Amino acid sequence: MIVTIDGPAGTGKSTVARQLADRLGFEFLNTGAMYRAVALACLRRGVDPAADAAADAVAAQLSIRFAHHRLLLNDEDVTEAIRQPEVSHAASQVAAIPAVRARLVELQRGAAEGIDLVTEGRDQGTVVFPEAECKFFLTASPEERALRRQRELAEQGQDIQLEEILQQQTERDDRDLNRTVAPLKPAIDAEILDTSHMPLAEVLDHLERRVRAVRP
Ligand code: DC
Repeated sequence: MIVTIDGPAGTGKSTVARQLADRLGFEFLNTGAMYRAVALACLRRGVDPAADAAADAVAAQLSIRFAHHRLLLNDEDVTEAIRQPEVSHAASQVAAIPAVRARLVELQRGAAEGIDLVTEGRDQGTVVFPEAECKFFLTASPEERALRRQRELAEQGQDIQLEEILQQQTERDDRDLNRTVAPLKPAIDAEILDTSHMPLAEVLDHLERRVRAVRP
């Protein structure tokens, strides 16, 4: 069984997806981390992450895999490295390249074969797993999403102004929403959930109930 969770950054998607997978005993796939891995490899090699052919040539040479919730890029653990702000920016650039997307979509489908999976991203319900039995699309107001991001960064010791976070977030949202391939949008059969005023446990309870109604 496949459960898809899509939506913009800052909606609590990753945390919800990981914990929902734990509750259900399913595997968990964080597809944003895969775009981040390609972006990191481009930056390290001095390749422009917005240059279609060059970025795809980098992607073609990579081994990207997850082990125990860590992301391994050519067997190096890059779980923390891919969270840097410059990688976030570059990830939204490589994610707009059709050839890179085609490559990662293939990896994602391969990873789902024969297992029960909760997968999160932007296009999981629309493009990658259109046949998924349970689809969710999480939203939250831009201010609430930026606030959550600010708190997360503060926990890592980084003190960033809210305006700066909002500005970068708007820029990335625009790119994700307006790209020609697999733009960020809910699948027609996805349940849309505004998490602005919902505590994490409430979101999780709701999603778990929905999934168990399909697969008791
Ligand atoms: O969820 P995230 O912030 O880690 O995602 C990083 C970038 O990758 C972001 O710009 C959206 C993009 N992305 C995508 O286009 N498709 C996905 N399935 C997952 C992420």
